[in-house]
Amino acid sequence: DLDPLPPMTPEFLSVLNKVCEQCYTDFAPDELEVSVREHILRDLESFVRRQFPGARLQLFGSSKNGFGFRQSDLDICMDGNCIIIIESLARQLKKHPGLKNILPITTAKVPIVKFYHIRTGLEGDISLYNTLALHNTRLLASYAAIDRRVKILCYVMKVFAKMCDIGDASRGSLSSYAYTLMVLFFLQQRSPPVIPVLQEIYDAKKKPQVLVDGWNVYFFHDLKTLPSCWPQYAKNTETVGELWLGLLRFYTEDFDFREHVVCIRQHSRLTTFNKQWTSKYIVIEDPFDLNHNLGAGLSRKMTNFIMKAFINGRTVFGTPIKVFPPLYPSQME
Ligand code: CTP
Ligand code: MG
Repeated sequence: DLDPLPPMTPEFLSVLNKVCEQCYTDFAPDELEVSVREHILRDLESFVRRQFPGARLQLFGSSKNGFGFRQSDLDICMDGNCIIIIESLARQLKKHPGLKNILPITTAKVPIVKFYHIRTGLEGDISLYNTLALHNTRLLASYAAIDRRVKILCYVMKVFAKMCDIGDASRGSLSSYAYTLMVLFFLQQRSPPVIPVLQEIYDAKKKPQVLVDGWNVYFFHDLKTLPSCWPQYAKNTETVGELWLGLLRFYTEDFDFREHVVCIRQHSRLTTFNKQWTSKYIVIEDPFDLNHNLGAGLSRKMTNFIMKAFINGRTVFGTPIKVFPPLYPSQME
């Protein structure tokens, strides 16, 4: 019961394309902002080492996966040859003059300490031994490096999610990470596909095993050789604007949420029945931790709210309107 969309005009498609490109140029951090993040990391590492010699801090999430915003939080993973206790880490961070609002959270799946970095206004959290997150960050970064459209679409998706207020897992919706997986899945399922399934490419007869926390984190990352390993390479020539509208249509018209799982680790369809995850409507499987459904925390109400945002998005971006050229300041008086 979706309204049919009127035919797309080339003019409107070109506007759509510009809007998508703009999301990327407006929100991506520049080199300086990237290096500020590294600097904060090194500073924090040397500070926590006073209390925990042998500790190691690494950035992950959007500071490293290629889809970072200027104001994205700092996701930091702490590990090393020492026993780290979250409360004593928090106590140590409270002594740092450059930080405030230190808050340990021990009840979450992965315990973290939250902080606010005063000089930059960036928020961050330090999680302990979050090794799988380091690997899924590398996986996302590899996808981002394959094609510039991947990067732009993930930015567009994140802007869309923030604007529709559906992109905050701590308030009951989905995380940025979940939306990124939805974009990647769409790009893998597009015909011809924009990106391959990196976890399914290998030269050996059998998929190599690289175990981390009991899960296989293998994926193909020798991207230079991808053109010869993946026959579909560069076959898809759609513009970002076409792909964005394609994505909204895919998730509102084609993809059957009741039956299928958003799953980027294999090309063939995975069903909610296979996974025994039939009680949820939006099911997004983590690419490595196969027991993790990123939609598990959604209420029915929130699920409807998210689906409505996609349906409205499809109408807004799929209905050509006459676009006037911008006014110049001299014309505005
Ligand atoms: N992560 C995860 N499982 C989740 C949520 C997050 O493994 N359920 C990991 C992923 O490595 C993700 C990182 O935590 O990249 C950070 O998550 P999040 O802050 O939601 O996403 P970002 O990509 O950092 O986006 P943002 O710019 O909004 O911070
Ligand atoms: Mg983040």
